[in-house]
Amino acid sequence: MQRASTVDRYGRLSIIMHWSMVVLFVGIYACVELRGALPKGHALKGPLLGGHALLGIAVFALVWLRLLGRLSPRPPIVPKPPVWQAAMANATHLALYGLMIATPLLAWLMLGAAGKPLPYWGFSLPSPLSADPALARTLKDWHEWVGNAGYALIGLHACAGLVHHYWIKDNTLKRMLPESFGAGTRDRS
Ligand code: HEM
Ligand code: HEM
Repeated sequence: MQRASTVDRYGRLSIIMHWSMVVLFVGIYACVELRGALPKGHALKGPLLGGHALLGIAVFALVWLRLLGRLSPRPPIVPKPPVWQAAMANATHLALYGLMIATPLLAWLMLGAAGKPLPYWGFSLPSPLSADPALARTLKDWHEWVGNAGYALIGLHACAGLVHHYWIKDNTLKRMLPESFGAGTRDRS
């Protein structure tokens, strides 16, 4: 029998994927920020860039599973938010998916135009572009711009989740937390 206090939540796979993505993004940004903070020629600069690239490719590989999850019905937010908030949430989610797809793609093209292979666990992924230093610089600027815009986007998204939880006090965040975070909840998967 279902209790009146139960909360519909995202499926287990969606929850695991969401929080794994958060961990990957922390790693991606930590690697690139630490790299930038180190002095020129430091021995850790190479490995940090390698880690940044590896985690970024993992995001690109996993985002398609997340998009598949998006096809199934999402648990309702209770109480129902106004239409403008739902529209903003959808637009932000769309932009986050864009970030997860466009940033690694731009990196792949930028490395290709710079005449460098994309290294992945000992393999090299071929590039669709031939070497073009000017194009490589432009693509690098775009990659960095979109990547840096991700800070604002993720910040906005995370703040919205916290505002819903602590201020509006609806179930927006609870739906994205594992069952162990709250009793009387129901898994939708
Ligand atoms: C979601 C995935 C990714 C995000 C959010 C991201 C984000 C960023 C950011 C914010 C920067 C600029 C840092 C600064 O302003 O100095 C950057 C630089 C860079 N990224 Fe990514 N990146 C991602 C994936 C990748 C991938 C897959 C690769 C390579 C395969 C890559 C290679 C690079 C390189 C080579 C730089 C330039 C580093 C430098 O010369 O200082 N990134 N990335
Ligand atoms: C601490 C940081 C974060 C918090 C508190 C958080 C919280 C949430 C919450 C509460 C939802 C459900 C919103 C709803 O159904 O309307 C959600 C969904 C989502 N989050 Fe996050 N999030 C965080 C970080 C991230 C990051 C780093 C990414 C990826 C770059 C991300 C991507 C998404 C996406 C794409 C959805 C929509 C899921 C769907 O397709 O239905 N989130 N997040």
